[in-house]
Amino acid sequence: MGLNYYHIKKNILRARKLVIKSTSIAGSGHPGGSFSMAEILGCIFYKYLKFDPKNPTWEDRDRLVLSKGHAAPGLFSNMAVAGYFPESELETLRKFGSKLQGHPDLKCPGVEFCGGSLGTGLSYSIGVALAAKIDNKDHHVYTIIGDGESDEGQIWEASMTASKYKLDNLTVFLDRNFIQQDSYTEKVMPLDEVLNGDNISEMWKDASRWKTGDKWRSFGWNVIEIDGHRIEQIDSAISKALATKGLPTIIISRTIKGKSVEHMEDNPAWHGKAPDKDVVPLINLELDSQFMIAPSIIAGDMTNLENEVKRCVNGRADYIHLDVMDGQFVPAKTFDHTKIKELRPLTVIPFDSHLMIDEPVKHVRNYVEAGSDIITVHTEVCDESSFGEIHDLLKQNQVGVGLAINPDTNLPEWSYKFLPTLDQLIVMSVVPGKSGQKYIPETHDKMKQLGPILKNHNFRGYIEADGGVNLENIGSCFEDGARAFVGGSAIIGQSDVRQTIRDFRDQVLKARRKVLIEQAHQLGGPDLVNKWIGLHVVGEKKDQITKIAKEENLI
Ligand code: DX5
Ligand code: ZN
Repeated sequence: MGLNYYHIKKNILRARKLVIKSTSIAGSGHPGGSFSMAEILGCIFYKYLKFDPKNPTWEDRDRLVLSKGHAAPGLFSNMAVAGYFPESELETLRKFGSKLQGHPDLKCPGVEFCGGSLGTGLSYSIGVALAAKIDNKDHHVYTIIGDGESDEGQIWEASMTASKYKLDNLTVFLDRNFIQQDSYTEKVMPLDEVLNGDNISEMWKDASRWKTGDKWRSFGWNVIEIDGHRIEQIDSAISKALATKGLPTIIISRTIKGKSVEHMEDNPAWHGKAPDKDVVPLINLELDSQFMIAPSIIAGDMTNLENEVKRCVNGRADYIHLDVMDGQFVPAKTFDHTKIKELRPLTVIPFDSHLMIDEPVKHVRNYVEAGSDIITVHTEVCDESSFGEIHDLLKQNQVGVGLAINPDTNLPEWSYKFLPTLDQLIVMSVVPGKSGQKYIPETHDKMKQLGPILKNHNFRGYIEADGGVNLENIGSCFEDGARAFVGGSAIIGQSDVRQTIRDFRDQVLKARRKVLIEQAHQLGGPDLVNKWIGLHVVGEKKDQITKIAKEENLI
């Protein structure tokens, strides 16, 4: 069963937008901590949690306990996306009489615990997990605690209790965002090490300084440490936790407070503050502009693809792009599903299989079974009926559905009906067949023409730019609407994959900042541009964005 990466990702995006909407209407609330746990909640809700929104007290449901209750907007938004109540109800957040208060309350059907008095949610979860054991029930308890909350002695008392009673039906996430209400956790009460200065990224980067896992291990827990914004890592951690017998699991998830909105990221001020209404459209645009970098391993050593996958892992790639060529659809031959199956155990990073093969309908099942997370087939070798078959098979197996078009192919009309449920559209910017070719500049015009068609047909997936993408043109590909970027020769062909991916990200970030201030200018002239820039107070962001705004004559 695939990860269902796109489905989870889409719901997380929807939930994040609802957090922004609801807190901004309320004029208060906690977006920062809602965003640091957004991927964790998304993965729990849309892949693991057993629940029935129509019967919230169903006895066999799994229990989700938000101990860090101030992040209620994150919980409520996901509950709305999951169907507990209409999304419009979030507009009542923090209003008198609403069931959606500043902290979760049992008044709201589906809420398991009145979180907010920090430190108590874990003890409560232990009670629930113990009761399940006594009653011979096999539901699971998922609990999210905060790192500021870990200042409470009760957390550590509870920790001893859970291991004493061998609560393997309890999985705890520590949302390790390094920030609590007043400051950085490592200044207030360090879990890892005292932080001197304000550079929180230091702590993030230096794994040798992380001691929190040792603490929990010494308390008798199964400890898993992950990047809490990587869906695939959360997924793998939960499945390991569920398979662990005889002890409780804590998943220490390194996260970023305010993740996905640059000016909120790592800024303690956004612990408990709502965005102003005039910046909400800009924040939504920023949320819609999340992007992914996908190195293509065929640009490396074809005799040692295992090593190329490892280079992608070390480089922190978002996807691994696998170019399958059969010697028929394109003259060259690379590898097939057997190789993908061999590579699969090397990493949990999603496999983005790009099938440049004839008659994909005959072979696609092999690529599902090999462990692809996303499979893209070419329109040139499909028609409505065969693609329909492929589409349904992939959806049934929780695998992302992609369609690709060659440089001289237009999106065929038969494909329009699939656009609302399509996860990815690859717009080839070279004639497929090999890596290392030059980007075809006409692709930019093609992307402009595609924009309205995709919009009109409700396409909500990612456009992937594939072929000749490099540091010079990636910014313009972003401006065209691409949100996933394949890099063969420009990434895998380089000696330092990690630095190159960082450079790729920086270029996209620059283009995104430009798009955002252009939008700010359109919506509110130089005043809004200045306001937007002024929000970016952490690190050097403000200077960098000001520079772009000046270059573009927007201030
Ligand atoms: C083209 C493939 C691409 C290509 C990428 O046939 O689909 O994925 O190999 O490599 P570069 O980035 O070098 O064009
Ligand atoms: Zn490709």
